[in-house]
Amino acid sequence: MTAKWTPESWRGKAIQQVPDYRDQGKLKQVEENLASYPPLVFAGEARQLRSQLGRVAEGKAFLLQGGDCAESFAEFHANNIRDTFRVLLQMSVVLTFGAACPVVKVGRLAGQFAKPRSAPTEVSGDVELPSYRGDIVNGIEFTPEAREPDPERLIKAYNQAAATLNLLRAFAQGGFADLHQVQRWNLEFVAGSPQGRRYEALSRRIDEAMAFMEACGMTPERVPQLKETDFYTSHEALLLNYEQALTRIDSLTGRHYDCSAHLLWIGDRTRAIDEAHVEFLRGVDNPIGLKCGPSMDPGNLLRLIDVLNPNNEAGRLTLISRMGHDQVGTHLPRLVRAVEGEGRHVVWSCDPMHGNTIKSASGYKTRPFDSILAEVKNFFAVHRAEGSYAGGVHFEMTGQDVTECLGGAQAISDDRLGDRYHTHCDPRLNANQALELAFLISEALKDERVARLGDGEPVSAVS
Ligand code: PEP
Ligand code: CO
Repeated sequence: MTAKWTPESWRGKAIQQVPDYRDQGKLKQVEENLASYPPLVFAGEARQLRSQLGRVAEGKAFLLQGGDCAESFAEFHANNIRDTFRVLLQMSVVLTFGAACPVVKVGRLAGQFAKPRSAPTEVSGDVELPSYRGDIVNGIEFTPEAREPDPERLIKAYNQAAATLNLLRAFAQGGFADLHQVQRWNLEFVAGSPQGRRYEALSRRIDEAMAFMEACGMTPERVPQLKETDFYTSHEALLLNYEQALTRIDSLTGRHYDCSAHLLWIGDRTRAIDEAHVEFLRGVDNPIGLKCGPSMDPGNLLRLIDVLNPNNEAGRLTLISRMGHDQVGTHLPRLVRAVEGEGRHVVWSCDPMHGNTIKSASGYKTRPFDSILAEVKNFFAVHRAEGSYAGGVHFEMTGQDVTECLGGAQAISDDRLGDRYHTHCDPRLNANQALELAFLISEALKDERVARLGDGEPVSAVS
């Protein structure tokens, strides 16, 4: 692994989850075109996120990462982007209140197109076709034409990512994220629900606080954070042809950045230490994530950290555990002990989605809200027991009123999953469920804060 890194050095390694492109000439042409296109994000922004994640690693901020399991060409619409962004803002306000610390907001957006699959092909009746690998690779329809990997899709994904980012930048900086608007972020179908009402009560308190602050002279002109927000993008760096084509040398530092998103992560199925995905991501200077499922052992994790964050810089590496609610208590403690014991600086984040996927009685791939919540709670409990900082959460969610995950306050039942089951891959929390979860996590964060203050840190200077 000490061999020289280049943006294409991954090509000499074994690789998992790679599409079988028939027309390699066309693929090469598309890669060359993409490489000549403008970067989607700038190195300075990725550095800024890295430094904010450094604050998370130190226990001074909290990470909220969320969005679609898989973005699709079909669901590409300004309203969908706006609504996901809006729910993330709501969740962030709720979490900021509980944690009383800044929330770093990262979307699974503007590039989350490629999906790892459990099998290279799918069989239906006596027909066997390549598996759907996300809209950046092939189409979801079960026909030979749709399932053929098409290099042109990389260009379409790039264009959709560019347009999505453009809108997100406008929302984040152009007035929509103004804290004076908190009441207006409540979506109509959420407003009447218990968490919608709870959110409304919270936003009234924020309004009062804003009026008070303005009376004290802290106006949006003097404190820009009141009227705009930092919002970052991320996706799984799975399709390395795309990632390499968007990698650029930063003129300021001379370092390579993958300019397809601010943060890229390595999935649980592609994290073999001597293989292509780890090779590619070790060489770009973005903040990166590493998914850790139940098969990750402490020795393996420490070796991966050596490769991915050799200088032990806080903010470079986020470990996203995704164990399952019933496994996090057994597997996470030994990882935490190894990493903390060796003094490695990482962000610990919890993905309570991917270890809790089940098939419902009616045949839908779903996730029970209770299991999702239980994994988050167990994650916090492990960190409290180990004395480490539970720094963030990672959700598959949408601003739409879908019925993909079971339960929650709306009590979505198996026979209702079919009503609005729209995901292109894994089941997502809907806006109500996402907000409900944010309130529950916010309470956990508040308890955490109180416990930490009670644990020796002086609350007031009493001699
Ligand atoms: C994902 O985040 O969509 C994903 C596939 O996760 P994991 O690699 O953890 O299974
Ligand atoms: Co997923």
